[in-house]
Amino acid sequence: MCGIVGVVGNDNTTKILLNGLEKLEYRGYDSAGIYVNNENNKDYLVKEVGKISQLEKKVGPEIQGEMGIGHTRWATHGQPTVDNAHPHFSADNRFYLVHNGVLTNYADLKAKYLSDVDFKSQTDTEVAVQLVDYLVTKENMDTEAAFRKALTMIEGSYAFAMVDKEQPDRIYVAKNKSPLLIGLADGFNVICSDAMAMLDSTHKFLEIHDGEVVILKKDSVEISTIAGEKVTRDPYTVELDASDISKGTYANYMLKEIDEQPVVMRKISSHYFDGKDIKIDEKMLEDVANADRLYIVAAGTSYHAGLVGKDIFENLTDVPVDVELASEFGYHMPKLSKKPFFIFLSQSGETADSRQVLVKVNELGHHSLTMTNVPNSTLSREATYTMELLAGPEIAVASTKAYTAQIAVESVLAKAVGEYKGVKLAQEFDLQGQLALAANAIQTIVEEKDRFKKIAHDYLANSRDAFYIGRGIDYALSLEASLKLKEISYIHAEGFAAGELKHGTISLIEKDVPVFAYVNDGVGAAHTRGNIQEVEARGGHVLVISSKKYAEDGDQVVLPAVDEMISPIVSVVPAQLIAYYAALERGNDVDKPRNLAKSVTVE
Ligand code: F6R
Repeated sequence: MCGIVGVVGNDNTTKILLNGLEKLEYRGYDSAGIYVNNENNKDYLVKEVGKISQLEKKVGPEIQGEMGIGHTRWATHGQPTVDNAHPHFSADNRFYLVHNGVLTNYADLKAKYLSDVDFKSQTDTEVAVQLVDYLVTKENMDTEAAFRKALTMIEGSYAFAMVDKEQPDRIYVAKNKSPLLIGLADGFNVICSDAMAMLDSTHKFLEIHDGEVVILKKDSVEISTIAGEKVTRDPYTVELDASDISKGTYANYMLKEIDEQPVVMRKISSHYFDGKDIKIDEKMLEDVANADRLYIVAAGTSYHAGLVGKDIFENLTDVPVDVELASEFGYHMPKLSKKPFFIFLSQSGETADSRQVLVKVNELGHHSLTMTNVPNSTLSREATYTMELLAGPEIAVASTKAYTAQIAVESVLAKAVGEYKGVKLAQEFDLQGQLALAANAIQTIVEEKDRFKKIAHDYLANSRDAFYIGRGIDYALSLEASLKLKEISYIHAEGFAAGELKHGTISLIEKDVPVFAYVNDGVGAAHTRGNIQEVEARGGHVLVISSKKYAEDGDQVVLPAVDEMISPIVSVVPAQLIAYYAALERGNDVDKPRNLAKSVTVE
């Protein structure tokens, strides 16, 4: 949800900013802009609607400097236009600011202090920069005091980077709820929403915490609280390699990430197992084992992984599990059990909806675990414990390998807790063997890409709607399968409990409506077969995806059998490929579907 970059003290500022923005494009791609200032204090502002490549076309060779800030936008307030693109600037062209987040009291501030100002945009952000200017010009504050004062007046979420043209040796930085890091490079310093953006410049980063201000210069980083109290913090090293985030020979990230899933399964297995023993934090194990109920909190695809996890945890640990949508749970929290334990599933570790729940959970004094792909992310730092997904950077907006990794890591924890509690099923469950089987099964599926490309064409080329149905674990899977299709192909799709169709939705089934029916759930298999008949009788164009164990003659896709509990790790892959090829056939940008962003840092 918007990406921010900044550089101070490097002649190649323009290049570093644009390169960084390209890496952050997954966070939003409605419009983008940079501000660059050179040693003669000549400055440039370039903004453009669309992706970074559009902005790059507009940036001429003369746009060079030693410091600057940049932004790629996912619109919240105001349409994606050049005026609404960041950086925003004060009426006197002195202050320039980029922002990730949402300012909730911008209208009040505007009415109270800035009624004389000629606003150039419809954004909440512009209020912040005009407010600093107001405090400097009307209240005679120096820039630092005005920046700090403005932060005390602003409500909402933000990561800000601000430049005062009269002080081109520094960038003012602050953060509340939205992610932001400082990168310490050789002879210069950088700012970024995600370390990935600056790996070409440095691997050494410093966290900024909520409520902190940073004054960043070429050779110094001054961190303090908004009130001005000095903060010291050690940097940490990001182990990622720039090549980890390259597409390599793939045309896009999504296909690469789908293909990486067997490797991810093997990596999770070898990381968390030492022989037959599971290596996880003992204290966490005890905490989870002592809980009388587990609450899994997540959004989107991660929520769907949580629905699969419910079955796994309940079976292997004997503890009841609730799976909650983060955006609902935080504000409509049910009566909690006496000894709850919270598991946050978040690929990015930055999702604002999940984070607001974690803040409340911490206030209530409960313990929690974040399962995330990004160690050092906000949710990872703020939860009691972290388990890494080890999926490697996931850059395509549509989540694939993080979903399967989440199910695998949930299984690791569930087995460990179950063994600790002496649950027989957990002791007998050969998770290592199952993950190996799953890795091989995914491998066979991804090697049959042409088949899924044909299915996507035959079933979806002319479709407006599609349905995914299944029971039990296949119902949870259907929700994810339908999300994958709709988010990248823009075909309306719904995931349905197979038995529920006849209670209303079956009226939408008519000739040639594609219905993808999953049969991996033993208990529900026979009934699902009946539901398939019902759909076929109404002209639905049914594709059955079954596990070898429950396959019948005529099933179009038969998957290698793995334990039912973790079967979505395998059965989601055909859905990922079908969605991918359906989107490709429609000419969509599969990595950056319209209206979306990878890391959703607004509520
Ligand atoms: C869909 C997708 C989203 C995310 C959701 C939560 O493909 O990626 O639905 O799963 O925005 O994001 P994380 O897992 O980063 O908290």
